[in-house]
Amino acid sequence: MSTRGLILGIESSCDETAAAVVERGARTLSSVVASQIATHARYGGVVPELASREHLRAIVPVVRAALAQAGVTLADLDAIAVTSGPGLAGALLVGITYAKALAFANGLPLIAVNHLEGHIHAVLLNEREAQPQSLPDGQPVLKGRGGAPSESHAIDGQKDDGAGAPGLASETWDTAQLNPPSTDPEPALALVVSGGHTHLYLARPNPSAWHYTLVDRTLDDAAGEAFDKVAKLLGLGYPGGPWIDALAQHGNPHAVPFSFSQIKPKVHLGGKAPRTKAARTAPIANLDPRFLFSFSGIKTAVLRYVELHNLRPEAESRRDALFTGPDAPARPTVEDALAQCDPQTLDLIASFQHAVIGDLMKKTFAAAESLSARRILVTGGVAANRSLRARFQAEAARRNLHVAFPTLALSTDNAAMIAAAAWPRLEAKDFAKPDLSADPSLALGG
Ligand code: KG4
Ligand code: ZN
Repeated sequence: MSTRGLILGIESSCDETAAAVVERGARTLSSVVASQIATHARYGGVVPELASREHLRAIVPVVRAALAQAGVTLADLDAIAVTSGPGLAGALLVGITYAKALAFANGLPLIAVNHLEGHIHAVLLNEREAQPQSLPDGQPVLKGRGGAPSESHAIDGQKDDGAGAPGLASETWDTAQLNPPSTDPEPALALVVSGGHTHLYLARPNPSAWHYTLVDRTLDDAAGEAFDKVAKLLGLGYPGGPWIDALAQHGNPHAVPFSFSQIKPKVHLGGKAPRTKAARTAPIANLDPRFLFSFSGIKTAVLRYVELHNLRPEAESRRDALFTGPDAPARPTVEDALAQCDPQTLDLIASFQHAVIGDLMKKTFAAAESLSARRILVTGGVAANRSLRARFQAEAARRNLHVAFPTLALSTDNAAMIAAAAWPRLEAKDFAKPDLSADPSLALGG
């Protein structure tokens, strides 16, 4: 291994083609994300065939841009890391095949990374970046060089804020303030909350690698999926999370009393696999029933509210005005969307978001208490939500716990988190086998 510990990370598990160069899992030299939002938006969700095609188009320029922005060549690298699952099979295969070819042609080791572990390492990378002493030579972290994670570069100008929706304003979060460096090697409870997952893990640092135990997961939809489906129902854009986040600030979160204790999951799945595209995980019977999540019920409750209050025609005309109609703006803004929402709809949006975040908080903090975890990591696309961050932070402060989030750019899918997660593997020489293939339902931990 060269002395620099440079890893090129490649991520293509869903609808973002991303590449990044990270030094020793602690310093981001570049992070480039090409989003496919524009391709999938008109379908209201990711179309797997289109995703693979877009990855094929983007992978070479994205990797080139990541190397160029880091100021390195392939010869400077020590390893290539790639997401091997979970995710869409065809999408994953594009990244894996390209990473394999690059590694083989340049005599570099290949490291396979679980996407969910990547999300957890997004927070750890931010924490290390806030600690200059985390690099062996004591070099300070150069925030501006080649693009710190909070400045993740968009290759096609579509995604530069990590929030993921066209026309939504980005917000700057100070990593050091968000994640006061934790020097604690004690286990952390990690909530991975994204479009495909709502999973709680106990993450334990080991000298050579991190060890994960699945604490609980969703029985049905992921939280991000609920945000996306409710946004679609209300005639808002894709992905729905950033729209709901922005519009919820203008509504009353207590107007519609959604209660998770009344919204039971429709089916008890016993030992069966979850219905989401999520990772293959332990049967429900092996998990703690107190912290299981379920988001299909609240989605149905919103649908019932819409039907009962005859809000569907209004949602249809909102969709037309913002996205599909002849006069729809090229990149609708929050102000455009606000002009299309009456107070009742804004109250519904705010109440939905309040209820989902309340449920995520209730179970995460109860699990932390039950497992005596004093440190909580919240990561994945939904962790970009402003209200979620504020409420988790307030509750953690009340309980005297430490909570950390990634920067906005590292909350949603990116490759810096993949390169960071690969660093302990490079040190342990834990390399992928030559026959590495995509595992769409790859599980993390036991
Ligand atoms: O981690 P991610 O980029 O991809 C997956 O691994 O799924 O997460 C995408 C999800 C989408 O469901 C999106 O609506 C949600 O994260 N999301 C948000 C916000 N930004 C993205 N949800 C709530 N509030 C946000 N600000
Ligand atoms: Zn993700």
